[in-house]
Amino acid sequence: MSNRAVAETHKQAGIEESSAVIKRSPLIDRDFLNFPDGFMWGASTSHFQIEGHPVEIGRRASDWSAWCTQAGRISDNTTADSATEFYKRYALDVEICRNLNLNAFRLSLNWPALCPDKPSSPKGQLKFDPETVKFYRDLLTSLKNDNVTTFVTLFHFTLPQWLAEAGGWNATETVEEFVRFAQLAAEEFGDLVDYWITLNEPLAYVYQGYVAGVWPPGQRGNYVGAFRAVRNMLCGHARAYAVLHQHNADAKVSFTMHWRPFMARRKWSPLDQMVRFFRDFVFNQMFPMAVQTGKLEFPFPISTNADVRQISGPISGLKGAMDYLAVNYYTRELSEFRFRWPIDIFGAQSIEREFEVNCMGWENFPDGLYNLLTYDLMPFKYNDDGTKREIIITENGYAAAFPADLSEGDWSLVDDIRVQYLTSHLQALHHAIEDGANVKGYLYWSLTDNFEWAEGLRPRFGLVRVAYPTQERTLRKSASVYADIARRNGFRRSISAKTTKALASI
Ligand code: FCB
Repeated sequence: MSNRAVAETHKQAGIEESSAVIKRSPLIDRDFLNFPDGFMWGASTSHFQIEGHPVEIGRRASDWSAWCTQAGRISDNTTADSATEFYKRYALDVEICRNLNLNAFRLSLNWPALCPDKPSSPKGQLKFDPETVKFYRDLLTSLKNDNVTTFVTLFHFTLPQWLAEAGGWNATETVEEFVRFAQLAAEEFGDLVDYWITLNEPLAYVYQGYVAGVWPPGQRGNYVGAFRAVRNMLCGHARAYAVLHQHNADAKVSFTMHWRPFMARRKWSPLDQMVRFFRDFVFNQMFPMAVQTGKLEFPFPISTNADVRQISGPISGLKGAMDYLAVNYYTRELSEFRFRWPIDIFGAQSIEREFEVNCMGWENFPDGLYNLLTYDLMPFKYNDDGTKREIIITENGYAAAFPADLSEGDWSLVDDIRVQYLTSHLQALHHAIEDGANVKGYLYWSLTDNFEWAEGLRPRFGLVRVAYPTQERTLRKSASVYADIARRNGFRRSISAKTTKALASI
């Protein structure tokens, strides 16, 4: 796809291209939201959702590739066996990034494909699958050749099957293997990685796998299992942080937090407020707070549980082990108390919605992003040495549902709601930067449509449409808008006409 083709799509989408606008000074044109120099504009991806990796899929080498074969696990009965065939087609997707003027890209390493077999002895030398190493080196090299800043995640939800069988994140063996994986990843790819992410959204992972039961290992209501997994993930993070720094003292290492503002459905209800407090503590605060302070702590009355007491406490090497803040932000949650016995302090998400929703039922709530950046992240703002942490939005995006078997036609290409979602969140982000938030980059989720875990191929998050039957990629209007924003390092406020309720009214 040439630049001319992108320009043509801009024109079709009715996007302003006048050079007069580009040259206009932001001081004069107050309507132009100019981002700081060097701002990173990127896209975020994860291996399982796009690759269709021959080792992972062919050998069912991961818990997720096995999970997808079980009846009833994926709501539209699809699998990620092909996904977007990124493993074969990555060069085209890198070219698309280039044409969209992106200067940052986030990918994850396929742990199950890199380590498909249990090492023969505990001391056995772990080696990565050589073909897979070549794939990632080629991919990362092509990004670096384009001057793209690379974000690389070590664990994005899929475990090697042999580790899942050993107990997954409930087993200390997984911690040991994760550290060896991090060590080898640093040796093999360290020269091509700008930002490391050890773990993606640990709390989303443990909630879906141990409480909701909709992801592997498919356990329901196992809070102790969830908290034990959290502790092991914190230990794994602390040690991976250390080995990545041993390899390169200047490495930038963090984990992504999936942050969603929790609000009581009935503000006047102390029970809804209690549920709000516990859900916010567990999903948002617990993990980053443990990293900030170096110890895992639980509020009363959870802290009185005997199993929880065993899990709580200091973790060696954890304190301050985040060099920057990597934030995934999509939506907020209204929380409510449900009458049942025994009393469930965690309550539930309300089914009520006040704002426009995406196909996952997630409300479009950009004010939450502003509030997060200027208020909620305060406790994590500084490194131990007093320097300010950079903040990167490592995911933010909008999904609309279209069946996986669509190919021909112009379905979903004029995606005005995604444009609205994107620009309203960028406006909130810009506002937060003006008010002092140290945000250095924004990575949209996702470059292309992809496999959305238990929801399958139906939710489409992409700036770029993928027609799964043919694997054809087509730019959506949002891709053209985003390309324009990246090129001009900003955009005119008027693109984002609709605004949500002011934060004060919440
Ligand atoms: C995040 C996940 C990512 C993707 C988006 C929609 O929670 O990190 O893999 O599924 O949600």
